Amino acid sequence: MNITYYGHSCFGVEINGKHLLFDPFITPNELANFIDVDLVRADYILISHGHEDHIADAESIAKRTGAKVLCCPEIAAWLEKKGVENIRPMNIGGKIKFDFGSIKCVVAQHSSSLPDGSYGGNPMGFVIESSEKNFYYAGDTALTYDMKLIGDYRNIDFAFLPIGNNYTMGVDNAIIACDFIKCNQIIGMHYDTFGHIMIDQDEAVSKFENSGKALTLFEIGSTRKI
Ligand code: NI
Ligand code: MN
Repeated sequence: MNITYYGHSCFGVEINGKHLLFDPFITPNELANFIDVDLVRADYILISHGHEDHIADAESIAKRTGAKVLCCPEIAAWLEKKGVENIRPMNIGGKIKFDFGSIKCVVAQHSSSLPDGSYGGNPMGFVIESSEKNFYYAGDTALTYDMKLIGDYRNIDFAFLPIGNNYTMGVDNAIIACDFIKCNQIIGMHYDTFGHIMIDQDEAVSKFENSGKALTLFEIGSTRKI
């Protein structure tokens, strides 16, 4: 499974030859301005919630690639109005099988509105199951007891968790989240992109290490095999 980091909470994950793109926010991100957004591949675009820092490039990438967009019905309606055609609206609790594996939508404790102020429905996270690996993409969320359901539900091989604090949980709560989801292999996201979410990366990594867990922080633009 190849994972590419496009900055902030945006990752590309290649599963069984299909490209999943999570929370596309590339062109407005000064840290990611060297990435050519027209080269970003996507067969599926998953959107956790409507905030600008998760949806900014969704419309353009969806139109260019024809990727299927997975999001809540409120965001689906908003994107449809913009002319995005290939959308699968889902909501929390839903689980659907696709050609690469399955997507289950799970609770995220956050808020959601779209960049123009429209109602964005409820924020969510995703549990992805596949013949390669299972993982959890948390989106923007606080630590929540609902994460225990994920730990009981499936064996999670690794998870994308927000660690930037302020708008989401920070490092200390993400370490507790590991115990809830029963997964100690974490890829950090939603940190250092703008004010209020700057972190000390070395300190974050050693805090995880001291708790017997592993935090991986990707360089923007890099790809790793997991
Ligand atoms: Ni948000
Ligand atoms: Mn955010």
